[in-house]
Amino acid sequence: MAIKTLLVTGGAGFIGTNFIINTLQSDPSFRIVNLDAVTYAGHPGNLDGLLHQYDGRYRFVHGDIRDATCLATLFEEESFDGVFHFAAESHVDRSIHGPEAFIKTNVEGTFRLLEACLLRWKHHGLDEKAHFRFVHVSTDEVYGSLGPEGFFTETTPYDPSSPYSASKAASDHLVKAYHRTYGLPVLVTNCSNNYGPFQFPEKLIPLMILNIMDQKPLPVYGDGKNVRDWLYVVDHCDALLEVFCKGRIGETYNIGGGAERENIKIVRLLCDMVDEKLGRPKGQGSRQLITFVTDRPGHDRRYAIDASKIGRELGWAPRYRFEDALERTVAWYLENAAWVDTIRSGDYRKWIEANYGDRTSG
Ligand code: NAD
Ligand code: TYD
Repeated sequence: MAIKTLLVTGGAGFIGTNFIINTLQSDPSFRIVNLDAVTYAGHPGNLDGLLHQYDGRYRFVHGDIRDATCLATLFEEESFDGVFHFAAESHVDRSIHGPEAFIKTNVEGTFRLLEACLLRWKHHGLDEKAHFRFVHVSTDEVYGSLGPEGFFTETTPYDPSSPYSASKAASDHLVKAYHRTYGLPVLVTNCSNNYGPFQFPEKLIPLMILNIMDQKPLPVYGDGKNVRDWLYVVDHCDALLEVFCKGRIGETYNIGGGAERENIKIVRLLCDMVDEKLGRPKGQGSRQLITFVTDRPGHDRRYAIDASKIGRELGWAPRYRFEDALERTVAWYLENAAWVDTIRSGDYRKWIEANYGDRTSG
């Protein structure tokens, strides 16, 4: 069996971790090198078990995508058949508090990575050149905000609202430019909001699960009626592999769950799920902890993905129903207290104070 070596950037984060586990489990022909700078969001320990389980098929490299020397060394040591570029600063609220890191990693980092890939790709033999793929993992947030009707398609004009989405938009443009200008074989994916195991509890779903467990206030921004289109992370990982294996070079694929929900409805559902799992008495329960707080500046009202292209061309569709996968996610956080404790021992408390300390409740 011919082994294909993949470079995964940001594989110690939420989606990257799930992608590596999913890929190594599902296909023995893949070997993965995970390059991660281990920021506050990176936890290489998530993948410790893989070193033994998939002997020789997993390697972790602690390094930064902005570091051209580190990239050059890695591309000398390894011969990559493909790159999955996950590494990014990924949280909208953090981008509002401190946009610079987003420009550095998401824009400059993507540029450095593209340069390293291009250099190696140019020197590949014809056969290797034909197989190489660069999959750029991006977000639906680049398209901006929708009104009550309509969906984002692959041709929706970019209109980002936050420093996070603007930096991701810039990185998407760079990736596409490296295809049009230099012929680098890229594919771009724009995915909706993910949830599932290993998500850092600064994002809506894990933050609410942990606060409900601890009986802390549940801070809902604005009127709570903003809508996101939720996708279970494993479905996203499956879609990315389909794009790598079967996608048309130079194309963009939107990925979404077809599960639009208002934030407030998700928070209420989580209250009921966590309460039930912890055997708390039925009734109002944790819903009483819901607190409407000052809205996020530039808060996009609604995201919704038209995923018909990836369905039609690659045969992908989500496998998990939202309510079922949400139950699995709640169960995962309840069963992984040690992971949660590690995450919360770092600068997490400082972040909670910085983001929520000044918000007034309404
Ligand atoms: P995350 O914040 O959980 O993980 C990001 C990872 O990148 C961390 O392990 C971090 O250490 C690493 N990293 C950060 N800066 C780095 C650098 N300079 N060099 C190397 N590694 C670095 O993010 P996530 O939620 O897993 O998202 C992964 C990707 O998917 C991002 O590009 C994001 O824009 C995109 N995306 C996320 C979602 C979502 O709902 N989470 C949806 C669509 C697209
Ligand atoms: P988030 O998980 O940060 O993802 P994104 O902003 O990338 O969509 O937020 C999801 C939604 O939940 C978004 O509309 C903002 C809202 N939200 C809250 O109401 N309270 C919170 O504490 C957080 C983190 C998010």
